[in-house]
Amino acid sequence: MIALFVATLLPSTIRADEWHYPTPAPNGVINEPERWGGQCETGRRQSPIDLTYQAAVKGDFAPFLFSNYMNPIRNAQLTNTGHSIQIDSTDPSVTLYGGGLPGKFVLDQMHFHWGSEHTIAGVRYGQELHMVHHDSRYNSLTEAGAVKNAVAVIGVLFHVSNQDNTHMDVVLETSQDIRDAAGKSAPLKGKLSPHNPLPKNRTSYFRYEGSLTTPTCAESVIWTVFTESLPVSLDQVELFKTIHDPSGHELVINFRSLQPLNARALVYHTDMDYSGSGAIPKLSLTLIVAAIAALLAK
Ligand SMILES: *[C@@H]1O[C@H](CO)[C@@H](O)[C@H](O)[C@H]1NC(C)=O
Ligand SMILES: [Zn+2]
Repeated sequence: MIALFVATLLPSTIRADEWHYPTPAPNGVINEPERWGGQCETGRRQSPIDLTYQAAVKGDFAPFLFSNYMNPIRNAQLTNTGHSIQIDSTDPSVTLYGGGLPGKFVLDQMHFHWGSEHTIAGVRYGQELHMVHHDSRYNSLTEAGAVKNAVAVIGVLFHVSNQDNTHMDVVLETSQDIRDAAGKSAPLKGKLSPHNPLPKNRTSYFRYEGSLTTPTCAESVIWTVFTESLPVSLDQVELFKTIHDPSGHELVINFRSLQPLNARALVYHTDMDYSGSGAIPKLSLTLIVAAIAALLAK
């Protein structure tokens, strides 16, 4: 009888997809480690990390090329994955190229984290959007997920502002239909193009080689995190927290703790040119003023 009881209990308690984020302490601080096991604990190139300018080396890559990102996602569905809310893309013509990536990458899905996973110089943002792509030399994200640098994730940070983010509205309106049930999907209540949540400045970003930030924490990801953040209102951030996890509790946070950089290179890319057009007129003005001053002094 006891053996039978244990046997029926076991399969549901050891399912690989049953992992969760630690619950914050009453003061909001997370003291508990994740304990997700496997590569999440033994890996040496894990994500997310703190992105600091002081630790970074200068990068110079070709510009990013976003193909068909302007097109609204076809038959867009929003899914409560139990750990986030996600919009899948099934159009293989939505691709990312350039930006130092080793090939052409196909967009698979976009999902949100509330608070941000990456921090910039120790500062956590209100939210982080992940746009997940696989190298077009592989058939799917699952296949690419096991291969080093065959997954490219674009991270977009959102800072809290008194402005609503209008692109977030369509996602949040739909999210109320799937809020209470992990695994549930609903058609998106409006149009959303992958281009909508991209910042204008796509030349200033951090780049490093890391991992998925959820189990299995596979070390297959080339990360790009743009430094220009977009606005989101506090009301909007609060709505994300009403999403329920698989055990029926509110998903108050869904970001993983910061991981060590270890021996990895952190690259900072920017188009900023110190001898560029901004600096020269100022210098010549200074020379003219100095010349006039010299003439007047005679
Ligand atoms: C992008 O941001 C960087 C860093 O703030 C800045 O130096 C650069 O001029 C910006 N580029 C564009 C095209 O706005
Ligand atoms: Zn993510």
